[in-house]
Amino acid sequence: FTVKMDAADLGKGTYPFYMLKEVDEQPVVMHRLAEKYLDAKGNVVLPADLLDALKQADRLYIVAAGTSYHAGLVGKPLFEQLAGIPTEVVLGSEFGYHMPMLSKKPMFIFLSQSGETADSRQVLVKTKALGYPALTITNVGTSTLAREADFALELYAGPEIAVASTKAYTAQIGVEALVAKALGTAFNQPAAKQFDVAHQLALAADGQQALIDQKEHLHDLAKDMFATTRNAFFIGRGTDYFVSLEAALKLKEISYVQAEGFAAGELKHGTIALIEDNTPVVAFITDPVTAEHTRANGQEVQARGGKVLHIAAHDLAKDGDELVIGDIDPLLSPLVTIVAGQLLAYYTSYDRGYDVDKPRNLAKSVTVE
Ligand code: G6P
Repeated sequence: FTVKMDAADLGKGTYPFYMLKEVDEQPVVMHRLAEKYLDAKGNVVLPADLLDALKQADRLYIVAAGTSYHAGLVGKPLFEQLAGIPTEVVLGSEFGYHMPMLSKKPMFIFLSQSGETADSRQVLVKTKALGYPALTITNVGTSTLAREADFALELYAGPEIAVASTKAYTAQIGVEALVAKALGTAFNQPAAKQFDVAHQLALAADGQQALIDQKEHLHDLAKDMFATTRNAFFIGRGTDYFVSLEAALKLKEISYVQAEGFAAGELKHGTIALIEDNTPVVAFITDPVTAEHTRANGQEVQARGGKVLHIAAHDLAKDGDELVIGDIDPLLSPLVTIVAGQLLAYYTSYDRGYDVDKPRNLAKSVTVE
């Protein structure tokens, strides 16, 4: 007798959807990155010619699309603060055709889970023709972007099947942190010396696992916030702003809720007009410099009837915060906070009865411009 089974389903194990499995794999991926990129003394090991190319650059341009673009945004402060190198993060679809004035010695970093995104590839073709060096950071070592760039680093996240990207996003941030640490160390930057990347990756894994272990709580929060809503907002400042963009994208992609992520301070400059009774707003509060400001923005929402879910760093948390995350450097807090965003989106989609892994109108990799 024969059982009809989709070959791709075989890898799902007991999980109802790949997305949930891939969310759960993130702590293991953090540890794997440490194993792959660190030596016994905790030093980042990069190919010498790649490090040389990075050292010669006067500016980094991170090129990406979708979730990878959001991971690139988190990379900017990592490279600027740890390595002291100015960094721009650009969308391939925009940059390739409206190239701004470049610095004298740019180096391009292509971030791509699949390594096949056409919007990013057309930029690589152009920058290569101009003679600029390129590094691809991808989950697929044999992919087009990896082959065509001068240098390639892998994410080691394992195959990502769900269309909505999860573990590739956190792996991209992990690799950016490793490269920034290596470059900052080569430049003798004090901030890089103080940044213990091995310890931070371990903290990230612990923080992620702590959220994964609270799935029932996250399911309840998803029900409470998003069960029937048509729109939602995610706010934060600094890296919390960047993770807001990604958390909103997750909710949009798989649950079709119109979700917007934006800089918390911008709320009062327009978007607050949309806040009505029970409008859901998720506030990320992990940046010590702006925590109180973001909290005040949350209070403005509540005063207008909106419903706020606070996701706070443990040292900034207040009584009543719905989710508190474990210790991690604020530069890397998206490694942890996004897990909450991913699970909120997952349960919203699941409860609405959607095919979480195959959202309408979306493809895992987009090879047309
Ligand atoms: C598609 C996927 C997104 C992904 C984007 C970039 O649109 O649906 O999830 O973020 O492509 O893909 P890449 O493989 O370059 O990271």
